[in-house]
Amino acid sequence: MKTENTVWHEQHISKAQRASIKDQKPCLLWYTGLSGSGKSTVANAVDALLFELGCHSYLLDGDNVRHGLNGDLGFTDDERIENIRRISEVSKLFLDAGLIVSTAFISPFEQDRASARAKLCQGEFIEVYIDTPISICEQRDPKGLYKKARAGEIKDFTGIDSSYDVPTKPEIHVETAEQSIQECAQQIVNYLAAQGFISITNKG
Ligand code: ADX
Repeated sequence: MKTENTVWHEQHISKAQRASIKDQKPCLLWYTGLSGSGKSTVANAVDALLFELGCHSYLLDGDNVRHGLNGDLGFTDDERIENIRRISEVSKLFLDAGLIVSTAFISPFEQDRASARAKLCQGEFIEVYIDTPISICEQRDPKGLYKKARAGEIKDFTGIDSSYDVPTKPEIHVETAEQSIQECAQQIVNYLAAQGFISITNKG
C-alpha cells in the first residue's frame, strides 16, 4: 500500500534518452480480442518483424504472464481487472526503458483498456483489435477451451458466459479472417512506420 512516505524518485536518464540509442519511439501495441482470435500469433509475428528491423521490442502474453506474475489470478471480472491493471503498469515500465511493447490479453472490458491508455503519454497507446468472429475462434479452438466452456466445464468464458466489449475506435483494426498472419503483421508494422515509431531502415 502506497503511503505519504512513499516518494517518487526522479531518474537521471529519461525515457527519450533511452529510446534515442535504439532509434525508435517507445509505444504500446495493446492487442485485444477473443480467446483464439489470434492475438498471440499476430503479436509474435509482429515481434519477429520488429526484431528483423533492429527494433528493441518485448511481448507480454496473457497465457505466459498468468503462469508467473499473475499466477494468482483467475477469470472473475475482478481478477481480469487486476490482471489488466498489473499488465498496464508493467508495460509502462517497459516503455520507460525505451522499448516497443506488445501485450496480448483478451482485456475484455473497455474501461480497463481506457485506464491502461490513460497511464501513458498521448499517442503511446495503440489499441489493436484482433477481430475474429467467435464462430471462427470456436472452430479453431486451439486449446479445446470453447468445447469445455460449451459443456459447462469452464465458467466465465469470454464470449460464452462472460462479456467482451468490442473496441469502438481502435487505432488498428485487424480482420484475421480476411488476411494471412503475415499480412496482419505487416499491417501493424506499416502503421508503426507511418506514425514514426520505427524507421524501416532501422537495421540494427
Ligand atoms: S483476460 O480476460 O484477463 O485479459 P487473458 O488474456 O489474461 O484474459 O487470458 C486468456 C487466456 O486464458 C485464454 O486465451 C485462454 O487460453 C485462457 N482461459 C482460461 N479460462 C478462461 C476463461 N474463463 N475465459 C477466457 N479465457 C480463459
